[in-house]
Amino acid sequence: MSTHDASTYEETGLDAILPAKELIKLIKNNNHGDRYPLVMDIGCGPGNTAKLLAKELNPEHIVGVDIDPDMIAVAKQHNAMANTDYYVQDISQEWNQWDKSLQKLAGKVSVIFSNYALHWVRESEIAAQNMAKLLSNNGIIVIDILYCGDIYRNAGTDERRAQLERQLRYPSEQEVVGQWVTAFKSVGLNRIDIKYWEPKSIYPVKVYNEFIQWPVNWFKRFLTDSTGNEDMDKVLRELILTDRARKMSEKSPNGEDLIEIKQELWNFVIKK
Ligand SMILES: C[S@@+](CC[C@H](N)C(=O)[O-])C[C@H]1O[C@@H](n2cnc3c(N)ncnc32)[C@H](O)[C@@H]1O
Repeated sequence: MSTHDASTYEETGLDAILPAKELIKLIKNNNHGDRYPLVMDIGCGPGNTAKLLAKELNPEHIVGVDIDPDMIAVAKQHNAMANTDYYVQDISQEWNQWDKSLQKLAGKVSVIFSNYALHWVRESEIAAQNMAKLLSNNGIIVIDILYCGDIYRNAGTDERRAQLERQLRYPSEQEVVGQWVTAFKSVGLNRIDIKYWEPKSIYPVKVYNEFIQWPVNWFKRFLTDSTGNEDMDKVLRELILTDRARKMSEKSPNGEDLIEIKQELWNFVIKK
């Protein structure tokens, strides 16, 4: 099963634009030469961020990679550009099994960008090895890592929290962020700057009601086998909404109800 539904993603247009713009700002702040020979967008999804990168950085060449063939099909259909190529590729696959065209890019990628994608990757060491292989001398990696919060904190009673902790073994924030720091250091990338921030996105309630299935599916990867007969989709949906959603009094220009969603992101800037 794919991690996301490409068509839903495309229709809603929820491309996490604010976090992506922040990453692009970081790329610009760290590149005083103002030249971008080859930019790689890892977990590029339907290509919205590749399009943004093209507009903002005007690179010579962009390569978008995503594990999901449906996403790459949407990217090719809707966000094809003259200097852009899209490939189906898992960032955490061993290098010698990578697509041969991508292997040719070893040591040539000047900017590795990834927005809202790497929280799906558990094999951070292999992913970091691959990024180190791709990066050119003086290259830069600019990525964000999503931490989905301590959703147990809204469990209600201590007893319910303990039960949820048995059902869902979600790693701590230290583990999530620390595993990436360790992975990059282990491949010699130790010039690492990290910044934490909490961007807020506003969605029509109707749209977020569909979108929420993605974080629900993501959390479900951490379920243990002690869930019993509970409807975990429903439980997770409620916990996520209690933890990070705020109903807004304002309406959209079309009169739709709006919801504000808090995100927790760790931005990494890594230089060779
Ligand atoms: C929430 S989407 C973000 C898409 C895009 N970066 C954006 O900001 O709009 C996350 C993407 O990461 C991709 N992804 C998940 N695991 C991956 C992996 N191991 N290698 C490459 N892409 C992956 C998913 O298929 C999905 O398209």
